[in-house]
Amino acid sequence: MRYLVTGGAGFVGSHVVLALLDAGHEVAVLDDLSTGHRAAVPPDVPFFLVDLASQEATAGVMAQGPWDGVLHFAALSRVGDSVRRPLHYLRRNYLTTLNLIEACVAHGVKKFVFSSTAALFGGTERTGLISEAASVDPGSPYGESKFMIERVLHWADRIYGMRSACLRYFNAAGADPAGRAGEDHRPETHLIPLTIEAALGMRPTLKLFGLDYPTMDGSCIRDYVHVADIAEAHLRALEQMEQGSICYNIGTGCGYSNLEVIASVERVSGRSVPWEPAPRREGDPVRLVADPARLHADTGWTPRFAGLDMIVETALRWRQAHPQGYAD
Ligand SMILES: NC(=O)c1ccc[n+]([C@@H]2O[C@H](COP(=O)([O-])OP(=O)(O)OC[C@H]3O[C@@H](n4cnc5c(N)ncnc54)[C@H](O)[C@@H]3O)[C@@H](O)[C@H]2O)c1
Repeated sequence: MRYLVTGGAGFVGSHVVLALLDAGHEVAVLDDLSTGHRAAVPPDVPFFLVDLASQEATAGVMAQGPWDGVLHFAALSRVGDSVRRPLHYLRRNYLTTLNLIEACVAHGVKKFVFSSTAALFGGTERTGLISEAASVDPGSPYGESKFMIERVLHWADRIYGMRSACLRYFNAAGADPAGRAGEDHRPETHLIPLTIEAALGMRPTLKLFGLDYPTMDGSCIRDYVHVADIAEAHLRALEQMEQGSICYNIGTGCGYSNLEVIASVERVSGRSVPWEPAPRREGDPVRLVADPARLHADTGWTPRFAGLDMIVETALRWRQAHPQGYAD
């Protein structure tokens, strides 16, 4: 199959590109390199340096099809930033994706895979596992922008027959087990890479936002899912959507507190992590843990990297091999 991957130079997208290539597919990447890295994409993969905000340039890439499917990772994705710049996030994520969906419909693309998020559930306190049947209540403009797009995809299927897979990742983490790709956000806002940087002495201290949450140790709880397992879920989704549009929560069903993440990094690296408490961040929910039962029942997907230490180990290994991140 021949797939177009938007945001393929970013963290999750670059790992999915590798998984698609490993499975024998043909892949091209569209990315504006606003947060991604050219070096994260294998040099022989066709690369379109395009901003999806340009309707004309986006349509131009679609015209270079036929594409058997489009996998859409490109987005602004920092929750805290979206609270500070809500209208910018809503406009950017919605309009860039609308440009892409319109171009897909115009060129008869049959499958559209969308990177959605656990942030769809962040506005309500959740105690148990979050299934696809849970009520959507985004706790941030970022989450809202993703939900708006899920609704557009609903109509694109109903009226034009374009099938979609909305994959709501919980916390993506880790790195390619073979060391070909890793996580390099600038600035970094994700807990595992930040904790690793603190352990390796690359930042003086780790700021822990909020220690007064109603959890067992006062810190927030998240479901960390290995990026290679997320990539595998995309391959399964592409098969499963032959039968119709789908929507899955992608997580492991296990939640870890921020303090447990620090303990895991200390255990795996053998170094201590300097950290200091900081006030809560706006838009941060207390607890987000997926119920992955539907994905498992429909596709047989199960996480290979179950357990925080396994995830941390691959992330640490990549960081130690790339202390400056990608060279670009
Ligand atoms: N990382 C996570 O834990 C997580 C969790 C849930 C959902 N997601 C979603 O997964 C997707 C990928 O996340 P990530 O962590 O890999 O982010 P990332 O920032 O590493 O990757 C995004 C990529 O999209 C590109 N991009 C952004 N805007 C663009 C535009 N207008 N035109 C073309 N390219 C553009 C960037 O250059 C980058 O390469 C995002 O949609 C994000 O919302 C991520």
